[in-house]
Order: sequence, then structure tokens, then C-alpha cells
Amino acid sequence: MERIALGPDGIGVSRLCLGAMALGTVQDEALSFEILDRFLELGGNFVDTANCYMFWDGDGTGDQSELLLGRWFAARGTRDAVVLATKAGRRPLFFGGGMEHSEPLSRERIGAALDESLARLGTDRVDLFWAHRDDRDTPLAETVAGFDDAVRAGKARMVGASNAASWRVEQARGIAAGTGSAAYTAMQNRYSYLKPRPGTRLPEGGHVHASEDDLDYLANTPGTALLAYSSLLSGAYVKKPLGEHYAHPGTDARLKVLDEVASETGATRNQVVLAWLAGHDAPIIPLVGVSSVAQLEEAAAGVALKLDAGQRDRLNAAA
Ligand SMILES: NC(=O)c1ccc[n+]([C@@H]2O[C@H](COP(=O)([O-])OP(=O)(O)OC[C@H]3O[C@@H](n4cnc5c(N)ncnc54)[C@H](OP(=O)(O)O)[C@@H]3O)[C@@H](O)[C@H]2O)c1
Repeated sequence: MERIALGPDGIGVSRLCLGAMALGTVQDEALSFEILDRFLELGGNFVDTANCYMFWDGDGTGDQSELLLGRWFAARGTRDAVVLATKAGRRPLFFGGGMEHSEPLSRERIGAALDESLARLGTDRVDLFWAHRDDRDTPLAETVAGFDDAVRAGKARMVGASNAASWRVEQARGIAAGTGSAAYTAMQNRYSYLKPRPGTRLPEGGHVHASEDDLDYLANTPGTALLAYSSLLSGAYVKKPLGEHYAHPGTDARLKVLDEVASETGATRNQVVLAWLAGHDAPIIPLVGVSSVAQLEEAAAGVALKLDAGQRDRLNAAA
């Protein structure tokens, strides 16, 4: 699998990032290990988790994904083969709490959250440490200082901002430049080929969709990238209803061209979506969740698929 350079040190990350959100909860331990093993065999190395996955699943604690990864690293000796990303900011402050009880991105809490994550993961550092949300109740300078502490302590190699707008990321980078602190080098927002209806409110709590401004910003900020989550719309390209927030004429137009290009390339809809994302003018790394090894293999082939200029133009023009 192709690698691209991310962040100030140019860390080589695979073109596909494996989302570990459901590993250890929806996917049991044996299947989770199989998926992770196969990801490495396919040449993948970039794995994304968070300190809250998946607290909303039944009696979930939010610890399961990190704990699962920690057991897999220990069992397989794979920690150094992985560029490991985790996040802080969405963990409820108490068991049973919801998104509205998310931990703050205060300097103190960022440090404590990372130490808790490292203990669950059984490692002394993560490669990418994300702010899981834009915490407007904490001064941005304090959040920047908290993430800088993590880098200075050698517990994180780079830092990024999820569910934030590019203007807030730029503000944070400005503060970091002024104080000699570690700056966000990646964004993680929702993004796929289909666009939600303009102005619609996404039903998934906390999801922030990448805007055209975000993509323009990243395309003109060297060393950065967008980690595009829900890139496969949770399976809705092939097997689930798209939902009311995608109900508009642009969806029909885009699906029509998507099917034409899938037929021309002999690929699946999901693969054309991933190829379109991976070859985007802005630096985009698709982040996918899978519930089987077959889905993972399909995704890996998707990011390797090259669309020709005419196919990209037609996909882009459909609206
Ligand atoms: N920063 C954030 O706020 C945030 C938010 C959401 C997600 N994320 C990250 O992004 C990752 C992926 O998120 P996601 O689960 O929302 O996105 P997704 O990749 O769009 O959806 C994953 C689901 O798509 C289905 N799927 C995948 N490949 C398929 C295939 N070849 N054929 C049919 N169905 C297929 C599977 O559904 P089935 O299980 O039904 O088979 C799978 O569970 C997460 O693990 C997490 O790391 C981050």
C-alpha cells in the first residue's frame, strides 16, 4: 500500500487509515485481531482510535478499542509497525454520561487523558494525538499548550484537530507559532463523495462535515492532510438507506456517475469512492471501518485504484 508523508517529521502513513472504533465491541477479539493482522499484511500501518470508543454501545465504557489494540500489540509485537492515532475530548466525564458531558480540552485533562490512553494501549507514546472536538469553552491557547505538553514529553509525535473548522485550526496554528508550540498538522472530519443537503444537520452526534474551505486550506498547507471519516457512509453506498440528509438531486446525479465509473473500472461503488478520495486535489486519507477481512481487502484495493482524468472530471462535475 502506498505511503504518504504526514506532519513536520514526514511520518510515512498508509493511504488507507483503519478505523478501530468498533474493534473490541461490535467486532469481537478474534475478528478484530484478524482484521488488524490483515491490514499489516496488506501494507497498511495507520490505525485510528479514541479514548471513548465505543461508550455509546450498550454497556460500553469507551475503553474497549484502546484496550483491544493494547492486547493486539502485546500479542503480536506490532506496536512499532503501526502509526497509532488516538483522541481526547469526547470521553464523558462519568460512566453513563453522553456527548453533552464530554471531557474538556483543558491542559490538565489533555495530559491525564493521554496518560490513561497510553496505559490502555500498553505503549509509551502515540504517533498522532487528536483533539476530538472543538472545545469552545476552554481558551484555545490552553488547549494548544496541553497538546504541546504531550509532544514535549515525548508522548505524542504529532497533533491534530478533529471536528473543527479550518479557521479554528489556523487560529490554533497561529498561537502555536507564536509560542513555539507543537502545531496541529492534520484535520479529521467527515467527508465522502456524496454531499449532505446544504444546511442539513447530520443525525450522528458530534460529526462535523469537511467544507470546501477546509479542503482548500489543507491543499495549501504543506505537510497536512484530512483524515476523512465515514468515507463509506457506514455502508450506505451499497447496503443501507442513505437517509433523509442525503435526499437531494445531487445525490442521484453523483450515484449515476459513480455507477458508470464503477462499471468502466470493474470496481465497486465503495472502491471508486475511496479512489476518488485518495486522488483528490486536497491531501485526503480515507479512514474506514470494516466488519470483515473481505471489506478491508476491498477498501485496500479501492485506494490503489487509479481513476483517469476524464473519470475524475465526470465525478467532480456531477452535482
Ligand atoms: N473523529 C470523529 O468524530 C469520528 C467519527 C466517526 C468515525 N471516526 C473514525 O472513522 C472510522 C470509520 O468510521 P465509520 O465507521 O463511521 O465509517 P465508514 O467507514 O463509513 O463505515 C464503516 C462501515 O461501513 C460498512 N462497510 C465497510 N466496507 C464495506 C464494504 N466493502 N461493503 C459493505 N459495507 C462496508 C461496514 O458496515 P457493517 O458493519 O454493517 O458491515 C462498516 O462497519 C472509525 O473507526 C473512527 O476511527 C471518527
